[in-house]
Amino acid sequence: MRQSVISVALPDQSYNIAIVPNGFDQLGNWVIVQAEGVNLGRQILLVSNPAIFKLYGDRVVASLTKVGFIVAVHLIPAGEQHKTLASVQKIYDSALKHRLERSSTMVALGGGVVGDMTGFAASTWLRGINFVQVPTSLLAMVDASIGGKTGVNHPKGKNLIGAFHQPRLVFIDPLVLQTLPRREFRAGMAEVIKYGVIGSPGFFEQMEAAEKLSDVQSIAPELLESIVVQSCQAKADVVSQDEKEAGLRAILNYGHTIGHAVESLGNYQDLNHGEAVAVGMVAAGRIAAGMGLWDQENCDRQEALITKAGLPVTLPVVDHGGIVTALLSDKKVKAGKVRFVLPTAIGAVVIRDDVPENLLRSVLAELGESLE
Ligand code: GLY
Repeated sequence: MRQSVISVALPDQSYNIAIVPNGFDQLGNWVIVQAEGVNLGRQILLVSNPAIFKLYGDRVVASLTKVGFIVAVHLIPAGEQHKTLASVQKIYDSALKHRLERSSTMVALGGGVVGDMTGFAASTWLRGINFVQVPTSLLAMVDASIGGKTGVNHPKGKNLIGAFHQPRLVFIDPLVLQTLPRREFRAGMAEVIKYGVIGSPGFFEQMEAAEKLSDVQSIAPELLESIVVQSCQAKADVVSQDEKEAGLRAILNYGHTIGHAVESLGNYQDLNHGEAVAVGMVAAGRIAAGMGLWDQENCDRQEALITKAGLPVTLPVVDHGGIVTALLSDKKVKAGKVRFVLPTAIGAVVIRDDVPENLLRSVLAELGESLE
C-alpha cells in the first residue's frame, strides 16, 4: 500500500487527508508539518474510547510525544448514547485540568462518535482550538471525519447541537480496518457505494468487478486502499465546493432521507446508520425508477452491489406511516416538501421535492411489511 494525500481546499482553512498505511508512528510529524504557519502549542488532549485506545493508544501517544507534544488522554465510553453534551462537559473538564490553551490541539482517535464530539469540544473550548481527526472506522474515515460538521445529539434528535469546525489534518491508517467488527465495516461500505452512485461510475464498476466486498479480510489491500482514497476524494470534492451546506452538499444525503427515518423509528437499534442508508439507497433507486428518472438495469445493479457488500436491501418491520411522518419532520425538509436525492445514472443524481406520496408508499410496501 502506498501513502496518499488528498486536499480539502476551503476559503479559510484548507487541510489534508493523509492516508498512510501502518502510519501511526508518523502521526506526530504529520501534525507538525500540516500545522505549519499555525500557532501550535505543545499541549494535546487525545480523546478516544477504551477499546480503540487499548489497540492503538500507545503508538499514537508515543508518536506525538516523540516530537515534543505533551499528551493527556480522555476516554469516553463507546456508543452513540454517549454522544451528548454531558460527555462534552467531561472533555471540557479534562481540557481545564490539563490547561489547554488557544494554541492547543484536541486529537480524536476513534469512530464517528469520538470524532463528532471531540470536534465539537474543540470548536467551543476557548472559542475554538486546533483539532486533528484520526478515524478508525470505515464510516469515520470516508465520511464523518471529513467536512467539519461536528456535534452531539439532543434527546429529541441526532446531531441537533453542533458547529462547523474543520480539522487541521485527517490522518488515516487503512490497515486498522482489519480489527473493525464486520458489521461496522459493512456499515461504512454503504457510504462508499453512495459515492459511486452519486458521482463516480468508474468507482462503482471497480466495486462491481471485485470478487468480494463484504469482509475486510477478503478485499485485496490495493482495493481497500483504493476504496478509502476514492471515497475520501469524493467527500473532499463536494465539501471543497460547498463548505457550509449551501447547496451541493445535499447530494451526500443520497439514501439518508428514508435511511434516517428508518433509523430513528427503530430507535437506532434495528439497523445501524450504514444499514439504514443502504436500504434508503434501495428505496431512492426504486423511487427514481418509478418516476422514470433512471432505468431498471441500474436500479438492479445498485441492489446487487449493496447485497454484495453484505448490506440489507429490505426494510425491517416498521410502521410505513411513521416513516412518512418522520420524513416530514426531518430537519432537511424545506417549506413542507421532502427533498429526495434521486439517481439518474450510475454517477449522477438530482434533487427532487415532487416524489408522489403513493409512489413512496408503494416502494416502502415492496421493501417490507408495515407494522400497523
Ligand atoms: N463531519 C462530517 C461532515 O462534515 O460532513
